[in-house]
Amino acid sequence: TTYKQPYRPQYHFSARANWINDPNGLVYYDGEYHLFYQYNPFGIHWGHMTWGHAISRDLVHWQELPPAIAEENSTMIFSGSCVVDKANTSGFGQDGRVPMVAIYTGAQPGNQSQHLAYSLDKGRSWIKYTGNPVIDLKQKDFRDPKVFWYEPAKHWVMIVSLPTDKKALFYKSSNLKDWTKASEFTAPDSPATIWECPDLVEVPVDGTMERKWVLLLSMGNNGPAGGSGMQYYVGRFNGSAFVNESKPGEVRFVDWGKDYYAAVTFNNLPRRGNRGAISISWMNNLQYANDIPTSPFRGAMSLPRELRLAKVPTPATHYELRQLPIQELKPLLSTSFQWTGTDVAQLNESILNNGLLGDTYCLQLELEATKTGVGVRVKKEEASKGKGDETVIGYDPSRQQVYVDRSRSGNVSFKKEFPGRFTAPLKPQNGRISLQIWVDRSSVEVFGNDGEVTLTNQIFPKPTSKGIEFFGEGLRSVLIRSVEPIWK
Ligand code: FRU
Repeated sequence: TTYKQPYRPQYHFSARANWINDPNGLVYYDGEYHLFYQYNPFGIHWGHMTWGHAISRDLVHWQELPPAIAEENSTMIFSGSCVVDKANTSGFGQDGRVPMVAIYTGAQPGNQSQHLAYSLDKGRSWIKYTGNPVIDLKQKDFRDPKVFWYEPAKHWVMIVSLPTDKKALFYKSSNLKDWTKASEFTAPDSPATIWECPDLVEVPVDGTMERKWVLLLSMGNNGPAGGSGMQYYVGRFNGSAFVNESKPGEVRFVDWGKDYYAAVTFNNLPRRGNRGAISISWMNNLQYANDIPTSPFRGAMSLPRELRLAKVPTPATHYELRQLPIQELKPLLSTSFQWTGTDVAQLNESILNNGLLGDTYCLQLELEATKTGVGVRVKKEEASKGKGDETVIGYDPSRQQVYVDRSRSGNVSFKKEFPGRFTAPLKPQNGRISLQIWVDRSSVEVFGNDGEVTLTNQIFPKPTSKGIEFFGEGLRSVLIRSVEPIWK
């Protein structure tokens, strides 16, 4: 019964009960992927921030464990990261046991500083470092350290944010305890006035031997769809300073939907050829996160995504982020419907004749950008003619935009900023657009043209609104695969 409530995500992570926000400390160690997250053990609103904990052996099926690092003496445990200190640089290891080290923000009224905790039992129990804090600038806003090992120079790197100054600071350390400031990054063209949860990660460039560094930033406001969102910069990194090579004025959004925030990437992933980095985000928006109509849980994570870069020759050579759901999700999929043709009326009829109803599924659409526009209505209420629930995903060829319209997606009235229509720029390739659409009980994630753009949005339709209906001209093929729930 735990994972059966209305709106309960069936293949996205959510906590059994209570509030969650940012993913924290994403790390792989000894056969387990760890997902820590901002968690309130005492309620369904933000507060008492603690690191919640879940583990997975395949990045798909998660098991929630007891909270890992708890609030103490009014120091809340804010967002941060986790490393596996194999060489015991920190000295936290004992009797050959490798320490996992969490680096997080200790948040007190009026002060935020960076702290350590370590675990010698694969993340099950945590000991706070007695020398905390390890960096204290006597700042009210100074948070969200992401630490990783920089192999070429063999030292640890921290990227951490001064949110209200729109700055990311870089620090270096040989032992995780003593940190030296190395550089600062700022980007005056960022539309946000608050930067949170920075990350820096090396990403392979498709079709080359190159790797570039991607700086991910969470924007507390002025995101692409309103409210919070994410942007990125591409450049070089030498272990001390990030050199941005993205052109000024080109604000690069990670996701164009309204519910994609605080994404960070995994540390210590097993080497798998030239595979990209893997990220997870909190699928929510600061404008209404405390108000979404779920119970007894509030908040969910996005699907894990693989990040790659494409080298794009025009107008001048530059690099763009490409994101697709990780291939580990494939075993959840089974084909339930396939169609090729041009006659959308015939397609809708055969969907109805097959009694096909969509609860949790993945749609793959290939379409031609003709004049009229084309798309699909998902989570559509059957009975009510043109008035009930529906979430519309479509392509508008005149504007060259893919869009998600959740104005009538179900319960939209809990906050005025929730309903709306959100767009992303997308050009046809050889006259074609492809859309991969992941529908769960309370979310829709759209990946356009193999991950060129993504749109992530929550929806809260009635449980009985399960219709799928196509419209417009230009649809060429449809594949519907059902997605098996991850909860047993
Ligand atoms: C982002 C954020 C972080 C902070 C955490 C507190 O959503 O505000 O900056 O560490 O949430 O829960």
